[in-house]
Amino acid sequence: MFERSSVIIRDPVKLDYDYVPKDLVHREGQMHSLETLFRPLAQHGRPCTAYLTGSVGTGKTVTARRFCTDMAEYCRNAGRPISVVFINCRNRSSESAVVLQLIRHFDAGFPDRGFAPDEMLRVLRNHLTTNVSNMVVVLDEVDALMKKGAVDLVYQLTRFSDGSNSDAKVSLIMISQDPVHELMDDASLSTFRRLNRVTFNKYTRDELRRIVEVRAEEALVPGTITEDSLDLIADNSAEFGDARMAIELLDRAANIAEEDSEGEVNVEHVRAAKAMIYSVVSESKLMMLDLNRMIVLLAVARAMKTNLAIMMSAAEKTYAIVCEEYDTAARKHTQFWKYVQDLESMGLLKTEVRNDRNGRTTMISLPDIPSKVLAQKMESLIEMKVKGDQDEV
Ligand SMILES: Nc1ncnc2c1ncn2[C@@H]1O[C@H](COP(=O)(O)OP(=O)(O)OP(=O)(O)O)[C@@H](O)[C@H]1O
Ligand SMILES: [Mg+2]
Repeated sequence: MFERSSVIIRDPVKLDYDYVPKDLVHREGQMHSLETLFRPLAQHGRPCTAYLTGSVGTGKTVTARRFCTDMAEYCRNAGRPISVVFINCRNRSSESAVVLQLIRHFDAGFPDRGFAPDEMLRVLRNHLTTNVSNMVVVLDEVDALMKKGAVDLVYQLTRFSDGSNSDAKVSLIMISQDPVHELMDDASLSTFRRLNRVTFNKYTRDELRRIVEVRAEEALVPGTITEDSLDLIADNSAEFGDARMAIELLDRAANIAEEDSEGEVNVEHVRAAKAMIYSVVSESKLMMLDLNRMIVLLAVARAMKTNLAIMMSAAEKTYAIVCEEYDTAARKHTQFWKYVQDLESMGLLKTEVRNDRNGRTTMISLPDIPSKVLAQKMESLIEMKVKGDQDEV
């Protein structure tokens, strides 16, 4: 039953959303900033703070996890152990849920009801000031908490960690996509402004390509993903600069390729993966096309096969064959070109002019649907259309 071994995916754990790689490519700068900010803690046991911001999928969570794990190991080896409590505030929806989790770090049996928020905060404060070892609290997606009005908790924690209270040995790392300043009152704001900010920029296309390439090396059997596939994944996720999207595309494409038993991940698999996650090529959009444009799109899909992009002339050649098949007259080049542009304006294909030694060539590519799937869809839609037109006569 389970005897068929996988030929593409070598280590599926490496594709999990919560896997933390040993080395984070293109986040060396942020790791270095964190190291500088937390040197007082690692070397002298003095609490520190940091505030990480940046848009979706820019590696904030994974960098914080990597950094905390590495720092904890360093401190343990240096004989000054620290403990790290990582809290996702979106999962812990209320202030008391967060406080409870922190209290339970010290007192696992603390009851989950019967205490007012104020009392709980006092209990926490007691623990934090009497705790012998240093503690690092990471509040991930802290904006979710603050939008629910938990500014006070954040304020208390920053007060503990800003050095004015020498008894508390709590360091704080806060993570948020948006700047949280507008959610705070003036008193908290002044404390917060002193927090050391580490910014996470959106990844560029080339950075995303490298991230996916490194992850593919870790997770897949060597040589089982094509260069074109890596390019297409990078292109698709570059608009958002989002590494999560890139890794998810890699994961899905690898699984689809595994099912396909073709022995490698090609661009067809990446297109299929993209279509699973988010497709701009909806059935309703395709149904709205007239017969001429349907035939052009079918020709493009058939000519595409497993290529990343094809030359306009190749599409036009296939177009002539498809027209013959459906017994319609092929339109002239300028009209064909106009159809292609119409399809592009609907987001159904993409064109790009390439300058090389043979002059200017227009290349056509498909956004996110496998050419095989698109060709099949177009064939059945054309059949329906032709039949419908005949019925009307
Ligand atoms: N530099 C990198 N190298 C390798 N993998 C990365 C890198 N940056 C991000 N990733 C991967 O991309 C995915 C998203 O990263 P992460 O969860 O850290 O993003 P985030 O900034 O916290 O996003 P969000 O704001 O949505 O929480 C994770 O699977 C992570 O492992
Ligand atoms: Mg995150």
